[in-house]
Amino acid sequence: MFYEPAKNDHGLPHNPFPSLIVPRPIGWITTLSKDGKVNLAPFSLFNGVGYTPPTVVVCPNGKGAGGGQKDTVINIRDTGEFVANMATWELREQVSKTAATVPPDVNEMEVAGLTPAPCRLVKPPRVAESPVTLECKHIQTVELPSYDPAFPLNAIFGEVVGVHIKDEVITDGRVDIAKIRPIARLGYMDYTVVDTIFEMAIPALEALTAPDIRGRPGG
Ligand SMILES: Cc1cc2nc3c(=O)[nH]c(=O)nc-3n(C[C@H](O)[C@H](O)[C@H](O)COP(=O)(O)O)c2cc1C
Repeated sequence: MFYEPAKNDHGLPHNPFPSLIVPRPIGWITTLSKDGKVNLAPFSLFNGVGYTPPTVVVCPNGKGAGGGQKDTVINIRDTGEFVANMATWELREQVSKTAATVPPDVNEMEVAGLTPAPCRLVKPPRVAESPVTLECKHIQTVELPSYDPAFPLNAIFGEVVGVHIKDEVITDGRVDIAKIRPIARLGYMDYTVVDTIFEMAIPALEALTAPDIRGRPGG
């Protein structure tokens, strides 16, 4: 099949697009409002975009509880800080609860029965139960064109200035993903959990068989 997203002519009962970029890591984002209220929500339009410095992007789009932008967008704009907690199999129910559309003065951390722990370099609290947390300073928000002119697509970039990793998820000097079991988003209501890991090194040029790339500068 072929369809044009702008025409929405896929003919399927649900938009297939969220199933086509998978699995998407979940940034479980803590922010503070300008008057200090804690906000926590999951975002699967989230990823790393660079290592030096470590940099992430999160994309809260569409309408929030108050009819304007989502609280996460407003809070990052107002305070310049956010915290990305890792979403795991063990915390899956809490992750889902914190996605509920609730008024800005409701603390989703309390709603989900989670424990706030202090960060070192930014003010929003981290989720104490999460094994990995990235403390982030806002770099820039890029507003991309959207089908709904009232709500641009927000791509919020942040520099990771501090990293928490629970000691118990470090095995033989490596972050033990099999122990952490991160969850990630698929399309529809579906998720996946990372529990199968395989290793593969990038091959050396000599190991490649295509003759036309051997001996080419940079090939
Ligand atoms: C696993 C998961 C991933 C989500 N990813 C996104 C996303 O990438 N962008 C988005 O705008 N909303 C996403 N949502 C919905 C938001 O979490 C939801 O709108 C939330 O209420 C926003 O909270 P806030 O207004 O406190 O920022 C996701 C929900 C779930 C459960």
